[in-house]
Amino acid sequence: MEKVYIETYGCQMNFADSEVVGSILTGAGYGLADEVEGADFVLINTCAIRDNAEQRVRHRVRELRALQNRRRNLRIGILGCMAERLQSRLMEEEDNLSFVCGPDAYRRLPELLAQVRGGQKAAEVELSTTETYADIEPVRLASNGISAYISIMRGCQNYCAYCVVPYTRGRERSRDPQTIVDEARSLFGRGYREVTLLGQNVNSYGWNAESAGNRVGFPELLARVAAIDPALRVRFATSHPKDLSDSLLEVMAQHANICRCIHLPVQSGSNRMLKLMNRKYTVEWYLDRVDAIRRYLPDCSITTDVIAGFSTETEEDHRQTLDLFRRVRYDYAYMFKYSLREGTYAARHLADDIDEAEKTRRLNEIIALQGQIALENNRREVGREYEVLIEGESHRSKERLFGRNSQNKVIVFDRADAQPGTYRRVRVDDCTAATLLGTLTD
Ligand code: 5AD
Ligand code: SF4
Repeated sequence: MEKVYIETYGCQMNFADSEVVGSILTGAGYGLADEVEGADFVLINTCAIRDNAEQRVRHRVRELRALQNRRRNLRIGILGCMAERLQSRLMEEEDNLSFVCGPDAYRRLPELLAQVRGGQKAAEVELSTTETYADIEPVRLASNGISAYISIMRGCQNYCAYCVVPYTRGRERSRDPQTIVDEARSLFGRGYREVTLLGQNVNSYGWNAESAGNRVGFPELLARVAAIDPALRVRFATSHPKDLSDSLLEVMAQHANICRCIHLPVQSGSNRMLKLMNRKYTVEWYLDRVDAIRRYLPDCSITTDVIAGFSTETEEDHRQTLDLFRRVRYDYAYMFKYSLREGTYAARHLADDIDEAEKTRRLNEIIALQGQIALENNRREVGREYEVLIEGESHRSKERLFGRNSQNKVIVFDRADAQPGTYRRVRVDDCTAATLLGTLTD
């Protein structure tokens, strides 16, 4: 039996896609290798969101050349966003690649592998307006058997000026809600206790049932998944601030097992930047949504994404981002320097005019401020008690376990009689900026 090794870079959606790929290929008679060494094919699922993500993949492809020199039949292919963005150009630039396959073409992988087996090269990069892989039960790769991702929609058509995703993942489309609920129920039956519903903008999820006027939106989908069992935690990502509705917050408030954590990427604290980025909301709108979250869900954590040094960003725009961070007091933030992506609106119409050193300085200022805020937020947790879903052994010590509370904060504690995959109550005694330290109380 020939074996494939799947390596994944990038966002949660890519990890979910790799599990679909694993399912398609095992269904076609391939085995899954645990490491590159035993594989006949290496499939690298890639991210194109920033240039450094692409450079990391190129570095890896070149590193694999040494292995190919020893094993002449080892074929390497690129999946995902880089495959879609660069298409066959990528195989010309990295000549040890045998194939590229875009995110909507994974059903064709068995044919693709058959083609390249003899040394041919092949590219499948057609995007689809309908593909959701709804009928494919993903194989769970590198899973802890406790939490799993479920992809509920694909693509994005928000066209934020800086973002390549609409070009690499195509039009937005939603998956049949019944297949989502069935997948979650099947996971729960197999012992999983947490599912994360994934989409580029889950708040615009929508499925039109056969009978007219019977539309399932995201709040309803979330309620259906939450109703499977109170012991199944439900998370979701990502929410676009422009579409975060009160009805979603109401549904969350009604279900204790929908986790108290909302990822709400702000990108900038300046209205001028938000307009230029085509984000379709203002700082005032964003703060109103944050107020609504706090009103419906007083114990909800809020996390974000931010970009430093977008086109024409001034010191004043940057200062407004810092001010917004001070107002919202995020529990966690993914912070990036602007990276120009070919083909985007920004690449075509806006200058990448903030020099690298200045981008770095602004980014570092945001990182330092956010570090301080996260530590202060965590200090307030000391003395509180949480229900924790235990995920496994702490990386530092076998005597300790770690899990997460509903707010998605990691809590480490002495293991005693506790078991991964169960819920226990833990009191927070101490913290760092990234982790809470606690003691079992039940
Ligand atoms: N440069 C830097 N960051 C970007 N992101 C998306 N496109 C770019 C880019 N061109 C960030 C945004 C988005 C996150 C997934 O990646 O903050 O929310
Ligand atoms: Fe990119 Fe904007 Fe779509 Fe997010 S919402 S994937 S930032 S275009």
